[in-house]
Amino acid sequence: MQYLRNTWYVAMWSQDLQPGQVVGRTYLNEPVVLYRGTDGVVAALADRCVHRFAPLSLGKVVEGCRIACGYHGLQFDASGACVKNPHGHQRIPPASSVRSYPVVERHSAIWIWMGDQAADPSVIPDFGMLDEGSGHEVSRRDWLRMDASHELIVDNLMDLSHTAFLHEGILGNAETVPSEITFESTPTSVKVGRNAPDVPIPGFFDLMYRRDGRRVNYWADIRWMVPACLINDTGVTDVGAPRSSGTGIYGMHFLTPETDTTCWYHFAAARQNPIAWGEPVDTEIREKIAELRRYAFEEQDQVMIRAQQQSILSADPAQKPVILENDIGVERYKRILQGLMRAERAPA
Ligand code: FES
Ligand SMILES: [Fe+2]
Repeated sequence: MQYLRNTWYVAMWSQDLQPGQVVGRTYLNEPVVLYRGTDGVVAALADRCVHRFAPLSLGKVVEGCRIACGYHGLQFDASGACVKNPHGHQRIPPASSVRSYPVVERHSAIWIWMGDQAADPSVIPDFGMLDEGSGHEVSRRDWLRMDASHELIVDNLMDLSHTAFLHEGILGNAETVPSEITFESTPTSVKVGRNAPDVPIPGFFDLMYRRDGRRVNYWADIRWMVPACLINDTGVTDVGAPRSSGTGIYGMHFLTPETDTTCWYHFAAARQNPIAWGEPVDTEIREKIAELRRYAFEEQDQVMIRAQQQSILSADPAQKPVILENDIGVERYKRILQGLMRAERAPA
């Protein structure tokens, strides 16, 4: 599978890499070791020692920001240069560097650049609502390793009509299917909006709203940004009332390919208008939101998408999927990504 490489992917949440911790992961089919020095700085290197090709992720952090191979002790700094050979005359052989990948910590995540062009941190999409002090009540920063291509998860998120079927009763229902659709796109983003007036309230939103089961106006907007960063704005308000008087959540979704058929899925949510109905910030509700979202992604989306992945693998490659009207966002984001990948592969 081809991937856009000169772009930023979320490698993991910052909280999941503590000082001195070493983690081995695969991104875009490449084994990478991430570690945080005791000075707090994060490094990402190819997870293969230059000596006997042992994974560096079985090593440990030494001397502040170096990683020592766990097999025979060669040490590498954050740039990937071999800086210590404990054997013999301690000479460092030429060509004994490992590849290093640019990493940036922003919006409580570690972002990694897998391409070989100069990394530009200014193109990381704005997820400021995840920042400390942003004023948003952010739920648990969670993640899953999914047994499906990251592309199938992006497809799932870009067509939120599935909530009426796969998450029936929790996030949508039969009356949310015939929504009014809005659509916007830029050279690096696509936004699809869904509005369903006067429908039964899905359970997840009843929990966050008035908890009286009354009918509502429901909306579900989703925005994709290059390469696989998404934010949804989903909520409910009284029938006939403006969105601003209702409540909902912003859901942040970051997909990173692991292999062609597996991916890393990082997600979090920020609740909108938590005190609009005279409620103080409610940590119990915040936990329930986090649990329900994880349940929907792990027990409903993943089960379907994993089976879909297997079905695709066994299908005749000549058979093309039928496209429906609700696929507008899926079709557009794929076209943008394919254009960017073509440009990336074109000779300079
Ligand atoms: S394999 Fe790393 S030092 Fe030998
Ligand atoms: Fe879903």
